Amino acid sequence: MLDSKNIVSNQQDIHESLEAVVRKHLLHRFRRPIPDYSLQAFENANEQVKQHAGPIILDSFCGVGESTKHIAAAHPDALVIGIDKSSHRINKHAEHYASDQVTNYRLIRADVDDFWRLAVAANWKPIKHFLLYPNPWPKSSQLKRRCHGSPVFRDLLALGGRVEIRSNWPIYIREFAQAMTIAGTNASAEPFHPEQAITPFERKYSQSGHQLWHCVCSPHLAN
Ligand SMILES: C[S@@+](CC[C@H](N)C(=O)[O-])C[C@H]1O[C@@H](n2cnc3c(N)ncnc32)[C@H](O)[C@@H]1O
Repeated sequence: MLDSKNIVSNQQDIHESLEAVVRKHLLHRFRRPIPDYSLQAFENANEQVKQHAGPIILDSFCGVGESTKHIAAAHPDALVIGIDKSSHRINKHAEHYASDQVTNYRLIRADVDDFWRLAVAANWKPIKHFLLYPNPWPKSSQLKRRCHGSPVFRDLLALGGRVEIRSNWPIYIREFAQAMTIAGTNASAEPFHPEQAITPFERKYSQSGHQLWHCVCSPHLAN
């Protein structure tokens, strides 16, 4: 097991199956049926998106939505949609993170495995898409649970926009950048030093002196 200060993993480099897994997922749409609760959550969000005249920004894996509010404050003309599957985390937002000054965002409880596919089908074109500290799934056997090893990676590409992913596990970000490169998008993993932490995980890692990593790129899905 490798302990790089913060992440314990039996993987010491980019996963040996990354390229094969990414190429397979690029060829096939993910066809798992979408449950009713996901359809309902998406419909609610889609109504608000249709009514919004300005740009859309996504904040996937938003947790308690601190970043969603921060991004909304920095983009007052945009509607920012934060997505997280944990109602426990989303429910903390109103009490601990909301403010009367910033109102151009919504938090949606949904699984990105469903939500991204529905957003692609509805032709959403977010100008930016943040993926801040997704669960690392650090065991080698968990590659397919990571964003870039997942069958919905192709939907992340199809949504497009400026994508930024952050993590404290360098292998995750290096794999993400390599998956983007395999899919035809220039991308690289870079060390990252936030001036101000915008999520609880970013704050926790920064205060503990962890090196943070990010990858910023503008993907597209070549058909
Ligand atoms: C490590 S936390 C990071 C939360 C927040 N971005 C932060 O930095 O504080 C990862 C979040 O991803 C959410 N999550 C994991 N898998 C998900 C999925 N398939 N769809 C939506 N949210 C998911 C979890 O509920 C959790 O809130």
